[in-house]
Amino acid sequence: MEIKSTNKILIAPSILSADFSKMGEEVRNLQECGADVIHIDVMDGVFVPNITFGIKMVKDISKHTNLILDTHLMIVEPWKYVKQFVEAGSHYVTVHYEVCKDRLEQTLFEIRECGAKCGLVINPNTPVEAIAHLVEKCDMVLVMSVYPGFGGQKFIADVIPKIKKIREIINSSGKEILLEVDGGINFENSSLVKKAGANVLVAGNTVFSAKDRALAIKKLKEE
Ligand code: DX5
Ligand code: ZN
Repeated sequence: MEIKSTNKILIAPSILSADFSKMGEEVRNLQECGADVIHIDVMDGVFVPNITFGIKMVKDISKHTNLILDTHLMIVEPWKYVKQFVEAGSHYVTVHYEVCKDRLEQTLFEIRECGAKCGLVINPNTPVEAIAHLVEKCDMVLVMSVYPGFGGQKFIADVIPKIKKIREIINSSGKEILLEVDGGINFENSSLVKKAGANVLVAGNTVFSAKDRALAIKKLKEE
């Protein structure tokens, strides 16, 4: 399953902010509330100072929704687990530039070989120049607007010029590549992020802390 049109704004709630003890219910609720994508934050306690869940969570979630499953791997040596995350039901698997280095291109290729769409993630302090040559080889580029590890952090506005630069690279490639932004997105900064060229907005805290999740998703989507 892939995202066909890249000229719509898609909202990807992050289940990092969900109640893990009732994940099936949470995911069904997100779908009912109009989410487009389920963003799954996998953390290993090594690349980031937090631990979440792994392959089985993706598999179990996939039984509760037919939305796109977007697995964000915040783990070292992600290539060791890519196949298992795809087999578990991930439609998109994104890996960090900061942990792949020389194996980056190969890892992206392996994700596609396994049958999923591949994505490349950069931290707030990684410049666009580090990945510019690889953008065309991705199905998605994910720009972190917080340092990964925790939900509910403050949006780092310095990443806006990076989003714009990547948007330019994507547009000049003529390819259907998604541009996702993750971390601290709220009703105040979402229009800035969209204007800069992002078309997939991850939102954890903003959706999960809302009294009316459907309204929160609708407001984030509004042009
Ligand atoms: C951060 C995660 C994000 C985060 C988003 O490490 O990758 O997906 O949970 O949550 P908010 O929107 O609360 O910053
Ligand atoms: Zn994430």
